[in-house]
Formats: sequence, C-alpha cells, structure tokens
Amino acid sequence: MSATVIVGGQWGDEGKAKVVDFLMGGHDVVMRFQGGANAGHTVVTGAGRFAFHQIPSGLLYPHVTAILGNGMVIDPQAFLSELQDLVARGIDVKGRIHISSAAQIVMPYHRMIDNLLEADLKKESIGVTGKGIGPAYADKYLRRGLRMGLFLKDKAELFDIVKTKVNDANKLLVLFGAPPLSAEKVASDFAGMRDRLAGLVVDTQELVHDMKARGKRILLEGAQGALLDIDHGTYPFVTSSSCTVGGAVTGTGLAPRDIGRVIGIFKAYLTRVGNGPMPSELTGDSGNELRERGHEYGTTTGRPRRCGWFDVVGGRYSVLLSGYDEIVLTKLDVISGLPRVKLCVAYELDGRRVTSFPQNPEDLARCTPVFEKMPGWSAEEIKVDRYDALPAGARAFIERIEKGIGARVSFISTGAAREETIVRDGAYSFDRT
Ligand code: GDP
Ligand code: IMO
Ligand code: MG
Repeated sequence: MSATVIVGGQWGDEGKAKVVDFLMGGHDVVMRFQGGANAGHTVVTGAGRFAFHQIPSGLLYPHVTAILGNGMVIDPQAFLSELQDLVARGIDVKGRIHISSAAQIVMPYHRMIDNLLEADLKKESIGVTGKGIGPAYADKYLRRGLRMGLFLKDKAELFDIVKTKVNDANKLLVLFGAPPLSAEKVASDFAGMRDRLAGLVVDTQELVHDMKARGKRILLEGAQGALLDIDHGTYPFVTSSSCTVGGAVTGTGLAPRDIGRVIGIFKAYLTRVGNGPMPSELTGDSGNELRERGHEYGTTTGRPRRCGWFDVVGGRYSVLLSGYDEIVLTKLDVISGLPRVKLCVAYELDGRRVTSFPQNPEDLARCTPVFEKMPGWSAEEIKVDRYDALPAGARAFIERIEKGIGARVSFISTGAAREETIVRDGAYSFDRT
C-alpha cells in the first residue's frame, strides 16, 4: 500500500491539519516527517478545537496510529504536555503513539540560542517561533545532537549524557552573555521524563515498513510549507527543515517509490508569519480585513499573520518542487462575500514581468505584484457539497488558479469543520472507515 503525502504549498498554515483529519478516515497511520513544535496544526471536530504541535494531527480517530518520524526535532517536555492535554480531553493514546529513536531532541539551550540569535539579528531577524528549531537542526548536522533513543538508556547514563551536553552548551551561552543553565537541573528533568518516554521510542524506519507490508494505509503529514523549505524557500527567511516532498522520504525512511500520492494544501489567499519578502502582501485596511475574516493569528505564537492575495507565481514554483497529484484549496469561505477578488498572476521586477519565482530574496523583495481582478460571489452560495453547485465566480477563480499553477484542485474547504469540504469528481478516492 503506497503512502499519501500532505504538504503545505505556501508559507505554512494552509489548513494542512484540517485536510489530514479529513483524509484520515481512509488511512491507518499518520506520520510527521519534519519540523517540531514550531508547527501549529488545528483540527475542529464535534468535540471542539484541537491544536497539535508535535503530535501528528490525525490522532483523533481511534483506529489511527501516530508516528513522530526521524526527520523531526522533538522537544520532549512540550511533547509530554501536549500528550497530557489530549488525554485530559478524553483521547485514548495508549499504544497509538511511536517516536523515532533517530529523531533529534530539542534541548532547553536550543530554545535559548534560538532567541539569542534572533535578538542579535535585530532588524534583520527571521521572526522565528522561538521553539529551538534552527539550533536543534544545526546540532544535528554538526553531529552533536542528542536523539530520542537517549530515553532508552538507563537513568544514570542518561543523566550523565545530558549533564555533559548542557555543560558544553553553557560555554556557548556564556559567549552570548546569557546565564548558563544548571546542568544538574536539566539532567534531572530529563531523567524524570525517561520512564514516560521510553515505552514510546522505537526504530520507526522498520516500523513504518512493517506497517506498509501489512497493508496499512499511511499518510505522511508535513509541517510548514514549500516557501519555508530550507533549500527551496525564501532563504534565510525559512525554517530549518525540508518541507517539500523530499522531506517525506528522508524524514521517514520510506523510499520514493513507497509514495503513491502527493497532495499540496493551499489557502485561497496567502498568509505568512515571520519576516521575509511576500510580494502579494496587503498592508493597511485590506490586509487587516483579510486577517480578521480568516482569524489569521498563529496557532503556535499567537502572532498576527501577514495576509495577501493568492500568489500564482509562488504556487507554480511549489507545484514544480513537489509535483502535486492534486491540490486542496482551503478557506474559500474567507474570500466569499467580497465584491471582487484578486490573484497575483505575475511579478514586476525592474520593469520586467516575471512569472518564475526569484531565488534571490533581495530580488523577491523588489518584486511588485501584478494582480488580476475577478468578480466576487456571495458567502451563502458556497455552502454546497458539489463542485458544480459552486457559484460560477468561485469556479472561475479556482480554475484560474489551476491554469496558473499547473495542478488540479480536487478538494475545496469551505469551513474549519470536517464536513465543510467539497470533494470534486475525479479526486483522490479513499474508503472512509
Ligand atoms: P496548518 O498549520 O496548515 O495545519 O494550519 P493552521 O491550523 O495553523 O491554520 C489554519 C486555520 O484555519 C485553523 O484555525 C483551521 O481550523 C482553519 N481552517 C482550516 N480550513 C478552513 C476553511 O476552509 N475555512 C475556515 N474558515 N477555516 C479553516
Ligand atoms: P505550520 O506547520 C507558519 C515560520 C516562522 C519563521 C520561520 C522560521 O503550522 O504551517 P522557525 O521557528 O521554524 O525556525 O521559524 O518559519 N514558521 C511557520 N510559519 N506556519 C508554520 O508551521 C511555521 N513554522 C515556522 O514564523 O518565519
Ligand atoms: Mg499552522
């Protein structure tokens, strides 16, 4: 059984979790492959609103097994409190969560260094979430990181390893003029978490292949989005992991041919949280209006998201990077009821019209949007369950996006709830359990 991959098509917060949850009824396993607690994934069900950060968001279905893959950077304290919150809300997690022994650990000093580096950058800052993501991945690639397999060691050995690491990190903290951490305290906190984590940590590369061999239907859940990808995004205003489809291979241990379907998630407009160029951004009243209509405030940090019109240039680039078999357009309701809507179909750079995404962030920052205006449609008219029942204006908008980016829209989301989803004829089909 080949795996389905869900990835963000823009700058994150596209509504990936809503789609993961929607498709999860037809899958048995959900696996995160990159990122960490920087992600904020919201699912709305009859039981209320759930915000996931490190735990895969498909877990709300009782039949589902969730795996935190090797490509992730995991903050163990934050993980345990997220787990506890789910249990407190009546979700039975017993035997349903596995963590890769090869996933990196986000240490308390990673969070400190993340914030110190950010403060040092002043006006040039990236606008990080402050969850320690960059420093944790940096240690991974410096081959100095600790991995979740640490929690399989006995307490005394674990204590000593953590204490040594913290003492090493303190040398760096002192260089920043920051107070050193108490190595004893951090080591004892980590030893205290050992018993709760040890039973969850496994070799997930073997596990996921075993599940595949047993015919389990696997869904790989991406975090962030294509334009935040460490290689392909708007560097340096990116996150530190591979958010495009390649990350689903390196971050799980599945082979490329194990992937059967790649689904890109796009909002019907655009948001970005953090700094960096965003050519179709709306500043002033229209940006504020879009933010309020879409409740665009970060799930992880509560920061207001920057808002703009759908960017066809960035969208087309994202299609090239991950080769989506189909895409999902979310939050159509947010732009419904406006007298007119716009699409950014090209950029203007130094008097030239550009339709490919500039790699140099300084060039991207100098790009101005070329907008195409289209007539709006009413908000009531989109509460339908068939694509052809959508108002002609909405269909024209969707089809203009398809033509511009070169991918088919198969699902349209018209609200945060599971049921508010239109499945178009010919969409990826799955048996819902
Ligand atoms: P993710 O990080 O990609 O999973 O997205 P977030 O959860 O950070 O942000 C998406 C927000 O939009 C969440 O609050 C969702 O509940 C909400 N949402 C998802 N799809 C829709 C939709 O079609 N319409 C509306 N109004 N809200 C949606
Ligand atoms: P989900 O999975 C939107 C942004 C941060 C910052 C940059 C680097 O919910 O879509 P980091 O802390 O990762 O080093 O910050 O990336 N960022 C996100 N933006 N959604 C996310 O996740 C994000 N995760 C990180 O705002 O600009
Ligand atoms: Mg989010």
